[in-house]
Amino acid sequence: MTTSIVVDDVTKSFRYQYHPTLKKLVQGKVRRQASQDEFKALDRVSFEVKQGESIGLMGLNGSGKSTLLKLVSGVMRPDEGQVLTRGRISGLIATGAGFHNELTGRDNIYMNAAMLGMSKEETDAKFDDIASFADVGRFLDTPVGNYSSGMFARLGFAVAVHVDCDIFIADEVLAVGDRPFKRKCLKRMKEIRESGITMFYVSHSAGSVKRMCDRAIVLDKGTVGFDGDVDGAIKYLHYDGDDDEPDSEESSEDERDDALASDI
Ligand SMILES: Nc1ncnc2c1ncn2[C@@H]1O[C@H](COP(=O)(O)OP(=O)(O)OP(=O)(O)O)[C@@H](O)[C@H]1O
Ligand SMILES: [Mg+2]
Repeated sequence: MTTSIVVDDVTKSFRYQYHPTLKKLVQGKVRRQASQDEFKALDRVSFEVKQGESIGLMGLNGSGKSTLLKLVSGVMRPDEGQVLTRGRISGLIATGAGFHNELTGRDNIYMNAAMLGMSKEETDAKFDDIASFADVGRFLDTPVGNYSSGMFARLGFAVAVHVDCDIFIADEVLAVGDRPFKRKCLKRMKEIRESGITMFYVSHSAGSVKRMCDRAIVLDKGTVGFDGDVDGAIKYLHYDGDDDEPDSEESSEDERDDALASDI
């Protein structure tokens, strides 16, 4: 089986950008204290992902998940170690990332698609599908600066899922979407997964990771705390039994939700 992602002994540090009071600043200088202003958001993280694997990336707030996705997608570079990926990457790292507030939803679809490597012709051909997935109605031709956070997420996700890619990454896509949209996303992600695309999916929802992924990696304060089956990861995090995601994938429900989504 081909290797899709290699994360090899990766460390990423950030600076605390706190604003000390003048008194603290002077005291620090007088006492010649070394300012402890760096911390490791990721500390010697290593793992490999095979092509077609579907990985749930879990962990508490601030454990380093988004940072890791940024490294995998190439938005950031590691300080130490290396990240290797094979093929084209698509996905959604942050809601509204790369969108221009003064441009309309329509224009932003073209911009965003271009950023993900799609040609104008490719986007033309897929435009109707993208717009219908986003389903923001008449707001498609209004500036996205006036969109709600859910509408932002819909547009970004709609573009991302229509890019032909080898690796699909998604960070908290379901967090701001309403229930019908969540279902639609989960359904589409299932299709992506079944088509052999590697999936790297950040979620706090034990239920959706369970449905979507065959393996889970738990980051614990910047290190790999657990890497294995999803049930093990859920146990590690004590996430069992408190899930609020839609739990059924019956087609009748999906159809009802799709109808609901198109009313928005
Ligand atoms: N650009 C940055 N500059 C400074 N610190 C940062 C930066 N980006 C992230 N951090 C810090 O790195 C740590 C890990 O952040 P990250 O966003 O990766 O967490 P996360 O696991 O995605 O959390 P969440 O579940 O809340 O989304 C946090 O302490 C965060 O404050
Ligand atoms: Mg995050």
